[in-house]
Amino acid sequence: MSHHDPDDIGCNNSANTEFDTVLRGFLSRRNLLKGGAGTAAALLLGGGLAACSDDDGTVGGAGGNGGGTGGGGTPVRALQLNFNPVAKSVADALTVPTGYKATVLYALGDPIDATVAAYANNGTDTAESFEHRAGDHHDGMQFFGLNAAGSPDAASSTRGLICINHENITQNFLHAGGPTAAPRPAAEALKEINAHGLAVYEVQLAASAWSVSRTSSFNRRITPNTVMTLSGPAAGTAWMRTLNSPTGVESRGTINNCATGRTPWGTFLTCEENWALYFSRAANDDITRGGAAAKSVISLKRYGIPQGQTGSYNWASATAASPSDLTFRRWNATQTGVSPDGTDDFRNEPNTFGYIVEMDPFNAASVPRKRTAMGRFAHEAAVYGKPVAGQPVVFYMGDDSRGEYVYKYVSNASWSAADAGSGLSAGDKYLNAGTLYVAKFNADGSGTWLPLTLSNPAIASNTLYTFADEADILVNTRLAADAAGATKMDRPEWTAISPTTGEIYVTLTNNNNSVRPVDKVDAANPRSYGSGGNANGHIIRLKETGDLGSATTFRWDIYLFGAPAAAAANVNLSGLTDDNDFSSPDGIWFDTQGVCWIQTDDGAYTGTTNCMMLAGIPGSVGDGGAARTVNNTVGSATSTVNTYIGANPNAANLRRFLVGPKGCEITGIAATPDLKTLFVNIQHPGENTTVSQMLGGTPESTWPGAAGARPRSATLVITKDDGGTVGGSLV
Ligand code: FEO
Ligand code: CA
Ligand code: CA
Repeated sequence: MSHHDPDDIGCNNSANTEFDTVLRGFLSRRNLLKGGAGTAAALLLGGGLAACSDDDGTVGGAGGNGGGTGGGGTPVRALQLNFNPVAKSVADALTVPTGYKATVLYALGDPIDATVAAYANNGTDTAESFEHRAGDHHDGMQFFGLNAAGSPDAASSTRGLICINHENITQNFLHAGGPTAAPRPAAEALKEINAHGLAVYEVQLAASAWSVSRTSSFNRRITPNTVMTLSGPAAGTAWMRTLNSPTGVESRGTINNCATGRTPWGTFLTCEENWALYFSRAANDDITRGGAAAKSVISLKRYGIPQGQTGSYNWASATAASPSDLTFRRWNATQTGVSPDGTDDFRNEPNTFGYIVEMDPFNAASVPRKRTAMGRFAHEAAVYGKPVAGQPVVFYMGDDSRGEYVYKYVSNASWSAADAGSGLSAGDKYLNAGTLYVAKFNADGSGTWLPLTLSNPAIASNTLYTFADEADILVNTRLAADAAGATKMDRPEWTAISPTTGEIYVTLTNNNNSVRPVDKVDAANPRSYGSGGNANGHIIRLKETGDLGSATTFRWDIYLFGAPAAAAANVNLSGLTDDNDFSSPDGIWFDTQGVCWIQTDDGAYTGTTNCMMLAGIPGSVGDGGAARTVNNTVGSATSTVNTYIGANPNAANLRRFLVGPKGCEITGIAATPDLKTLFVNIQHPGENTTVSQMLGGTPESTWPGAAGARPRSATLVITKDDGGTVGGSLV
């Protein structure tokens, strides 16, 4: 039972074509409103202007999620990267630039409760103790400031709460001798479950050092067993009925939480990604459910829960001490009961996962709410566009599987800054009613947001799957997006908003040859090379028409293509050098100054370098000028496609900032409002370690411990030795 690699995902069997009939051969000059930006101009303007004033009425503004144009009256100063690039490395070490320091703040197993023992890190820590200590696989996170009195304070850079996802586990390290095969012992299964979920932990800066406040009343673990409320149009519908919640209004916990978001009103969003992998389903379950044409069978297949699947860690095989304890049984999605509606089994349990979950970080007793209006898929992140009074609130989201889509949610309610600080009740107002859209990227550099509603004829008349109502569309978002005619992308990961331009960035981490063969490229996913597919990924960006989040059209271009610096020109399309080449972008986030942070989760370039984080100062959509032709070659097959590529980066506006230890990915980033402290996560160092290596004291990585130690995912604190802002400075 090795770490289940979410990279091995792809279940979009829809007929959607990757390229439009109008795709090839259409060459037109970009509509460059600002004229042809040369390199010098791009350096200055592309560097972005001074940080925007926080005039949008948001709270918890440290996240840099609330994009927008610079505030009026802000002095114009140029943003520059303030470090020298870090070299590529395959050492089992963490590297940051000269003049910077990185320390470990919060590692796997660290207690967040004063009564819990220090982490033994030898597999003997109990399952129950994980309800009070750090989970595994640190992923997306957000910082929420607190003032000296312990009240919310968006301006505080010395005290706050970190809300963090514990996405997954490296199973071997959690047990003394590695995991036991199925049937799984209950204690092992429960420990693995409890090492997933979220944490809220308070941090304080004192005497120039950050530490976790173990006695804080805000500290909290949320696990896959924590009761949550289902909200929005799909709550309480037949889709949600389970033995745990016969009325379909509750769910148990959250799992495989990848990236995060925050809201303009000051709450935390966590995003359920590869939840489908955890479910087991009997080999004959399709027949039990009515055969291949049954709606639930179509749905399960589209979401990657085929009959015969054994869940990642086979928790369904564990037996609880009491028959009434449903902790393990719920991971078996087989229809085993006799009820017509699923209230006597867990056939519908998968329908209670795949959502954006909202949590109030400032109330440890609050019940998180799953926002079904934002759709159900492998959610990566949810970032909001600049809130404008009287306009809808808009969130941008990616679905991370091969060939999946980019979405946005537009609220019915119009933004009122008076809702800032109103917690989950504001969430009820903005996140329970709205319109979900999916993106179609056209060959001419334009794009269309396709509504996922029954008033969309492509959905209402769909014959492959008949949608009954809005809840059906929201639970089966992928099927609705197929019907609408969305563009299949190269695995959408995080979304981010530039505070200087308001443009939306989406990482497309990579794709393989079966989903992106050389004859199935398109303008927005234009590469298939090497042994086929887009192994190194790219970053696409969108500009909404009129800069309005409610727009139904946009322009796009590709900010960067990942590639080895030494790759051929038709692969290294952005002209990356040894100082900034990367592969498989995953995390992406803008700080409030406008520095674009890029994190990698790579398997294609790891022979040359471990995963990394870069800092960039991008320009804007269209800065690369006219369409360019991409020539693809895979074996004897070739293809040609035109696309729109942003201005090439250079030594001044894209540099490698950090390289992680062996076997890790870099994911999760947050900053204090003064940008003098950056929090960054190292996830799954040494993940390729076998049990015998672990027991022999020779794991792939020992980071951050001593020789022979089991490695641990951890949150880093990164500061600049001179006390300056991290990554970029305004000069
Ligand atoms: Fe959890 Fe798509 O990375
Ligand atoms: Ca990710
Ligand atoms: Ca990842």
